[in-house]
Amino acid sequence: MSINFSGTPQQLFWKGSPRDIVFDVEGIRQKLLETDKPCYVMKDFNGRVGVSNTGALVSEGRGLQVLAMANPMSAAQLGDPTFRSDYKLKYAYKTGAMANGIASADLVIAIGKANLLASYGAAGQVPEKINASIDKIQANLPHQTYAVNLIHSPSEQALEAAAVDLFLDKGVKVVEASAFLALTENIVYYRVAGLSRDASNNIVIANKVIAKISRKEVAIPFMKAAPEEFIQSLLAKGKITAEQAELAKQVPMADDITVEADSGGHTDNRPLVALLPIIIQLRDELQKQHNFSTKIRIGAAGGISTPSSALAAFMMGAAYVVTGSVNQACVEAGTSEHVRKLLQVVESTDVMGAPASDMFEMGVDLQVLKRGTLFGPRAKKLYHYYKTYESIDELPAADRKNLEEKVFRKPLEEIWQSCIEFFEERDPEQIERAKNNPRRKMALIFRWYLGLSSNWANAGTPDRVLDYQIWCGPSMGAFNDWVKGSYLESYENRKVADVAVQIMEGAAYLYRVRSLEMQGVKLSSELEKVIIKEETREEHRVLV
Ligand SMILES: Cc1cc2nc3c(=O)[nH]c(=O)nc-3n(C[C@H](O)[C@H](O)[C@H](O)COP(=O)(O)O)c2cc1C
Repeated sequence: MSINFSGTPQQLFWKGSPRDIVFDVEGIRQKLLETDKPCYVMKDFNGRVGVSNTGALVSEGRGLQVLAMANPMSAAQLGDPTFRSDYKLKYAYKTGAMANGIASADLVIAIGKANLLASYGAAGQVPEKINASIDKIQANLPHQTYAVNLIHSPSEQALEAAAVDLFLDKGVKVVEASAFLALTENIVYYRVAGLSRDASNNIVIANKVIAKISRKEVAIPFMKAAPEEFIQSLLAKGKITAEQAELAKQVPMADDITVEADSGGHTDNRPLVALLPIIIQLRDELQKQHNFSTKIRIGAAGGISTPSSALAAFMMGAAYVVTGSVNQACVEAGTSEHVRKLLQVVESTDVMGAPASDMFEMGVDLQVLKRGTLFGPRAKKLYHYYKTYESIDELPAADRKNLEEKVFRKPLEEIWQSCIEFFEERDPEQIERAKNNPRRKMALIFRWYLGLSSNWANAGTPDRVLDYQIWCGPSMGAFNDWVKGSYLESYENRKVADVAVQIMEGAAYLYRVRSLEMQGVKLSSELEKVIIKEETREEHRVLV
C-alpha cells in the first residue's frame, strides 16, 4: 500500500472525475509534486485510499469523503514575500559569499540569471580583482539583483574602507556584511550614503545591508539606527549630507539579518534550531522599541543544503535561506577540480575547527574539511605555538625545524621577508605594528601559511595537496547523502542554480508530505523522500 490513513476525516466531500484519482506510487508522487495545485486524499467506494488534485469540495451531499488535504503551496511561496519582491527574486533563496572569489563572478551570474540572490566572495581579494568582478557581474546581470560581501577585517581596516569606497563608486546596491564584531564607520558610511527622500517624502534606502551574525550582541547594532558618533564623524569629513545624517536616525543599519548557525568558514557552531528563534524574538523586541517603518527580515544560514533543512528553517520563521558549503562543490565555484572532487564524497562528520587567518590573534576558529588534507591539525599547532611562545626564536629547535621543512618549506625568516613585501603593497601599517613586536611578527608569519593554504586549494597547487585549507560545514555531507544515486552525485553535474531549485522545490514537496502526514496520512517511505530527477533540472525547465 503506497498510502493509508489513520486520522480524523475532514467534514468535506469531493466531487470530480474518478479517473483523476490515483492509487499507485508514481501517480501519487506526481500529484504531490504539483505543489501549485491542491491535493486531496480520499477513500473511494471500494475502500482504496487515493489522491487527486482536481475536482471540487462540498460541505454536504454526495461525494467521496475527504480524509486529508493540502492547499497549493509552491516553492515560490516559501519565506517572506517582501524579500522576494524587494530583491526581485523567484525564491527566497540566497547563496552566501565565499572568500577569495570562491563565490565567483560566474557563480553570482548563474544564480542571478535564475532570479535568485548571490553574494560575490570579495573577502581576501585585492580591489582590482573585486573591481573587475563587479564589472563582469553588472554587465551580465543588468536587471537582476546581486550582492557583494563586505567582510570586517579588524586587523586590516584600510581594506574595509577601500572596499566601501569601491562599492559606492561602482553603485553596488546590496552588501552582505559579515564578521562584524561591532559596527565600523565604513559600514555606516555605506548605509547612510544611500539614504534620500523620494517625491512623496518617503525614505529611500538605496544601499541595502544583509548582515550575517551568529550572536545576539553582534545582531543588536544592526537592528538599531547608525550610532551618532559615526554619523558626526562622517558629517565632519563631508562624506554624508546633513539630510542623510537626519534620515539615518529613522532606519535600522540592516534590511535583513542572516542568522548563521553551524556552517562552513567562520562559525560559532551554534545549532540553528536554538539560534533562529532567539534572533527572531530579539528583532521583535527591538522593532517594538524603535518602530521602524519596515521590519528587519531574519534569514537562516548554516547547515542548509537539503529540502528538509530548508523547510525546517522556513517553518521556524526564516524569511529566506542561505546556502554556502554546497555551492563550493558546484562547477561555477572559483576553486579547483581537486577540491570539488574531494567535496563530492565528504560525510557531514568530515569537518573540524581550525584558526582563521584574518582573526588569528583573537583565537577565532573557522570550519574546514579534515578529510584529504592536513591543514586543520597543522593550523591548530601554529595557534598553539602563538599562544605558548613570545617569538619564533623561542620555538623549540625540533619544532622549528619541522615547521621549516614540512609546513613552510622555507626558513621562517625568509617567510618574514615575503610578509614584508606582501604588506608593503597591501597594508604597510601591518609591518609597522610588527616591527618592535616579535609576537606580532610570529602571527604574521603564521598567517602567511593560513592565507596561502586556501589559495593553494583554489588553484589546485599539486605539491600542496596536504595543506589545502577548504572551508566546509556539515551541510556538505548532508547534501552528498541526499543526492546519492542521482545525477547530482557527480560534481561535474552540480550547478548552483539547479541545486538551488532542487532544494527549494524539494522543500515545497516535503511541506506537502508533512502537512498530510500530520493529518493522519501515512505515505510509503519512497514517497517521503524527495527524489531528484534529471528532467526536473533547472536548465531543462528553462528550455521547455
Ligand atoms: C568556502 C567558504 C567560504 C566562505 N567565505 C565567506 C566569506 O568570505 N564571507 C562570508 O560572509 N561568509 C563566508 N562563508 C559562509 C557562507 O557565506 C555561508 O553563510 C555558509 O557557508 C552557510 O553555511 P553552510 O556552509 O552550512 O551552507 C564561506 C563559506 C564557505 C563554505
